[in-house]
Amino acid sequence: MLTLIKETASWIQEHTALRPATAIILGTGLGRLAEEIEVIESFAYQDIPHFPISTVEGHSGRLIFGRLGGKDVLAMQGRFHYYEGYDMKQVTFPIRVMHELGIRTLFVSNAAGGMNPDFSIGDVMLIKDHINLFPEHPLRGKNFPTGPRFPDMSEAYTHELLDLARTIAREKSIKVQEGVYVGVSGPTFETPAEYKMYHILGGDAVGMSTVPEVIVAHHCGMRTFGISIITDIGVEGKIVEVSHEEVQKAADAVQPIMADIMREMILRSC
Ligand code: HPA
Repeated sequence: MLTLIKETASWIQEHTALRPATAIILGTGLGRLAEEIEVIESFAYQDIPHFPISTVEGHSGRLIFGRLGGKDVLAMQGRFHYYEGYDMKQVTFPIRVMHELGIRTLFVSNAAGGMNPDFSIGDVMLIKDHINLFPEHPLRGKNFPTGPRFPDMSEAYTHELLDLARTIAREKSIKVQEGVYVGVSGPTFETPAEYKMYHILGGDAVGMSTVPEVIVAHHCGMRTFGISIITDIGVEGKIVEVSHEEVQKAADAVQPIMADIMREMILRSC
């Protein structure tokens, strides 16, 4: 695996002169930010050696090397979800490659169901912590030399970056929520009983991504920052039918706010 990671990183370095220290996973809600990136080089995932093969038709992701507000950035447009059938080594392969490329800070976004009764659709939640409920652990197996066998997780989401996000939100008068993200495999959305259980367990929002990537980034010693867009509500009495389209629509509406926070974070933190 380590050989494959190094081969992929070498291939990328041969194809771009950019050496960014910051990466963004452009999850749901960050399409707007993608448009702001001045693209220098862009690689379709299928053209990158050893990158997982995309299972979703018409969903070919790409790795972008570019500039955002004068800063060099690496952006993943499209991520690999566990529910698509990838194993955890595949889901987190790009993060390992990022580390090899010298990435020091990872920014992540996602869409999530809100279980905290104070949350509303369209809220933005800074991820303070997570609960990993994926059935497979991304660090299972032979330990990678990037970090210890039993990694500390007391600060999975870098406090300094959380503080910066709070400051930016205050300055821009953007209302943000904060909470714990529960990572589950999907692809089903939750039953009312499951939303209730995850809330009792300590979760404020639930979604199908982010946790594996953040665990591996943390194991690689990167600083991490995550934002959830609350796209539907899993609170007893308020639960209505939810579809992927509605999730997308709710996320799209918050795009300008998301882009604003993330852009500012990247400019000030790197
Ligand atoms: N549950 C899981 N994943 C999600 C949800 C949800 O309610 N909303 C968006 N992604």
